Amino acid sequence: MSKLYLLKILEIKKETEDSVSVSFDVPHDLHDIFNYKAGQYLTLKFNINGEEVIRSYSLCSSPVFDEPLKIGVKRVKNGLVSNHINNNLKVDDLVEVMPPNGRFFADVKNNNYKTYYLFSAGSGITPILSILHTVLLTEEHSYVYMIYGNRTENSIMFKAELEKLQEDYANRFILIHTVSRPKSNWSDLWKSLNEQTFRKGRVDTQAVEWFVKEYPPYAQNVEYYICGPGTMIENTKKALKSIDVPDERIFIESFTGLNKTNNSIGMENAKLIALLNDEKIEIAVPKGKTILRTLIDAGKEPPYFCEGGMCLTCMCKLKNGKVHMNNNLSLTDKEVEQGYILSCQSIPLSDTLEIEYPKK
Ligand SMILES: Cc1cc2nc3c(=O)[nH]c(=O)nc-3n(C[C@H](O)[C@H](O)[C@H](O)COP(=O)(O)OP(=O)(O)OC[C@H]3O[C@@H](n4cnc5c(N)ncnc54)[C@H](O)[C@@H]3O)c2cc1C
Ligand code: FES
Repeated sequence: MSKLYLLKILEIKKETEDSVSVSFDVPHDLHDIFNYKAGQYLTLKFNINGEEVIRSYSLCSSPVFDEPLKIGVKRVKNGLVSNHINNNLKVDDLVEVMPPNGRFFADVKNNNYKTYYLFSAGSGITPILSILHTVLLTEEHSYVYMIYGNRTENSIMFKAELEKLQEDYANRFILIHTVSRPKSNWSDLWKSLNEQTFRKGRVDTQAVEWFVKEYPPYAQNVEYYICGPGTMIENTKKALKSIDVPDERIFIESFTGLNKTNNSIGMENAKLIALLNDEKIEIAVPKGKTILRTLIDAGKEPPYFCEGGMCLTCMCKLKNGKVHMNNNLSLTDKEVEQGYILSCQSIPLSDTLEIEYPKK
C-alpha cells in the first residue's frame, strides 16, 4: 500500500443535511508530497469497529487558492465510511491519508483560452468545484459553463461558494442548477431565485443536449468534465457523443468504479486461466475489461473490495502472460517485479494468461 501520513483535521463544516466538508492541516515538510492538481483525490484509511477500511475522496479545494486541503463527503445510505466521517470526525483528530492521486484533472495554465463544460451531480461536485475554481482564478481568457444536478435546492453542496464565484466571474462563468424534486411545487421548467437559475429535472441526455446548444463554446478549444452517479455519467457521455464530441475531449471521474472497461487497450477475447479457491477457471476476457470484472460477471467470487486499485484485496500472481494495470495505488515496485498484479485494474495484453489467487 502507498505510504500513509497522519494529517490533523483543521475544520469540519456541515455543507447540507447529509454532507460535510473536512479540511486538513498539512505540515510544512509534507507540502510537496501533498501537492495536487485540480480534480485529484485523497485516499483515507480508518479503523472502524476493528475493521481497516479505505476510501477515496476528491479534493474540492483549489491548489492555487490559499486554502487548506479540503474534501466533501456525502452520506451514502448504510455506507460505513461516509457516515463515520459525517457522524464521528472532530477537529484535531488525526487521519491516515495517502498523497493526492488520480488522472481526472485539468491542465490549467494561465495562457489557456478554452471553454470548459462541467457536468456534475450530487457529491460529484467535489473535483468539479476544484477545477472550476482553479480555472477561473488562473485562466483569465477561459469560459466555464456548468450544470449541477441535485434532488432538492437544499441538497446543493457548496452553494454559497458557487454563488460567490458566479458573482465574481459573471462575465465568464455560467451555472445552471437542475433540481429533480423541487421543494416548492413549481410546475414549470424554470425558476429564478436570487439570480440563480434553476431547471427542473436531472442531468440527463435531454438536459445536456439543451445546455450545450443554449451555451455554445466561446473559445474553440473545448473540454468536457463529468462527475456524478453512473447513469448521469452515461447519459452525459451519450449526449456529447450524439453531437460528435471526440473521446479525448471528455474526462470522466466515477466514484463507484462504473467504468470497468477501457476499450482503447487490451486483446480481443484473451484466454484467461485463473486458479481461484482450488478451482481452475478458463474464461475469455472481452477487450478492455478487467480480469476481476470478467470473473465477477461470470458468477465467480474472486476477492475484492475497493475495485479502485487501493486496497490490495484483489491481488494475485501473474504466472503467465502480460497485463496493463489501469491504476496501482497499493502494490510496491518489488511486488510488481515479483509478478503480483491487482486483478481489479488488470487488462490482458497477451493472447493467453494465467493467474493464481492466494489460498483463503
Ligand atoms: C476517485 C474517487 C473519488 C471519490 N470522491 C468522493 C467525494 O468527493 N465525495 C464523496 O462523498 N464520495 C466520494 N467517493 C466515494 C467514496 O470513496 C465512497 O465510496 C463513499 O463515501 C461510500 O463509502 P461508504 O464506506 O460510506 O459506503 P460502503 O459501505 O462502501 O457502501 C455502502 C453501500 O453503498 C453503495 N455505494 C458505495 N458508494 C456509493 C456512492 N458513491 N453512491 C451510491 N452508492 C454507493 C455500495 O454499493 C453499498 O451498497 C469517491 C470515490 C472514488 C473512487
Ligand atoms: S485494489 Fe482493491 S479490489 Fe483491487
